[in-house]
Amino acid sequence: MKKYTVLIVGGGSTWTPGLLKGICARQETFPIEKLIMYDVNEERQQVIGDFAKTLFREDYPEIDFHYTTSKDEAFTESIDFVFVQMRTGGYTMREQDEKIPLEMGLIGQETCGPGGFAYGMRSIKDMIELVQNVRKHNKEAWILNYTNPAAIVAVALQNAFPEDKRILNICDQPENLLRSYGRLLNMNERDFDPVYFGLNHFGWFTNLYDPEGKDLLPLLRETILDGGFRPADHEQRDQSWLDTYAMVEQMVRDFPDYLPNTYLQYYLYPDKVLQKLNPSFTRTNEVQNGREKRVFDDCRRVSETGTAKDSNVIVNDAHGEFILIVAESIAHNKGNNFIVILKNNGIVSNLPDDAMVEVSASLYANGPRPYAVGDIPVFYKGLIEGQYAYERLTAEAFMEGSYAKALQALTLNRTIVSASKAREVLDALIEANQGFWPELR
Ligand code: NAD
Ligand code: G6P
Ligand code: MN
Repeated sequence: MKKYTVLIVGGGSTWTPGLLKGICARQETFPIEKLIMYDVNEERQQVIGDFAKTLFREDYPEIDFHYTTSKDEAFTESIDFVFVQMRTGGYTMREQDEKIPLEMGLIGQETCGPGGFAYGMRSIKDMIELVQNVRKHNKEAWILNYTNPAAIVAVALQNAFPEDKRILNICDQPENLLRSYGRLLNMNERDFDPVYFGLNHFGWFTNLYDPEGKDLLPLLRETILDGGFRPADHEQRDQSWLDTYAMVEQMVRDFPDYLPNTYLQYYLYPDKVLQKLNPSFTRTNEVQNGREKRVFDDCRRVSETGTAKDSNVIVNDAHGEFILIVAESIAHNKGNNFIVILKNNGIVSNLPDDAMVEVSASLYANGPRPYAVGDIPVFYKGLIEGQYAYERLTAEAFMEGSYAKALQALTLNRTIVSASKAREVLDALIEANQGFWPELR
């Protein structure tokens, strides 16, 4: 079996150890010859990189591994897959994205509303550069991207590289949800054949077929309405995630047609969700005290003790496993079905062709083959079109350095609505993001 060369960009990410454990677990099905980790932050990269050395010495001794902050070492012609999980501006800027809107009574969230807008404007620049760096040496490598806000990154990369067929933006939340459905129904998530449509962090499951072709969605709906909804993954057990999962029941009660992505809570109930968000202690603070601390402390401990055997650093299997099974399906031309982000081109027939939709597709060596969704009902179409316009205007505001388009984007966002609020938050975010955003005129 061919052995692959993989580059992880954002090697110092809190999610990297989980991904590395996944790599160890899949050596039979996705063998890796060479693994490079690249990050712009030397300290973060070193902590996670040294953890990796210990882990691989014990679990994957034949892998040729090194980590670097040098672009020349990272971007080479031999790469088969690039896994991207970078955070431009780090948690310092994520905190601003959350707190600035919250201080104005608006939703402050990593990927939704004004915070998602601000993060998008930062991510686009680095993501475009990343693709250029990869393509300088290598036209064939698959770029699998987790970097958020994946919805906006996907639109921007589609605009910047319209002919590039080997960039695939992915999100693990549909996978997290499938695992939660599995937990509720006492089934394995891989036995579900889901139908899903929407934009990233803005979509719905319409059907959930079992191996015999029976649609389990009605049963699941009743189960949620009877007993509520719970996360499967341990990573999503912090209070903010429990609050998020608790909102699923309400969404299903109000809009029972389909099962919603959890991120829809911010758009459908901004007033209610705001009551749960604390402007002086946001998700960033929760992550800094939780996942980030746990991961970095444990990685340091593993390097000191010289063994990763007792490491419990990974509490989210879905994240690391999902990108690997996506890569495996492409590498081996398996055509397995996954929910991924693709240019619409008629998949949802009554949405614009250039929207970046999140849908089911079979993933082959030559790319995804999506399943047609057909027409969607007017309520969902209306919601998606507003959000699609917001995403597109955000990408255009970046490309054109346009204040007018930024203001239009934020005014369209359902978490804001008021144009004067949109202007107020935009001006504050411009101030906070100096050096990260292009100048908006
Ligand atoms: P993190 O800050 O811990 O890790 C990101 C790393 O990227 C940092 O070490 C940082 O130094 C590095 N980095 C920043 N700019 C870079 C650049 N230009 N090139 C290379 N490296 C760079 O953040 P995290 O919480 O671990 O998340 C990482 C990313 O993955 C975020 O964008 C997050 O939103 C995303 N994510 C997405 C999904 C999804 O469903 N799509 C799921 C989980 C995480
Ligand atoms: C989910 C989403 C991601 C998000 C992640 C972590 O998996 O799909 O897009 O980045 O949660 O969010 P957190 O708030 O824990 O950093
Ligand atoms: Mn996501």
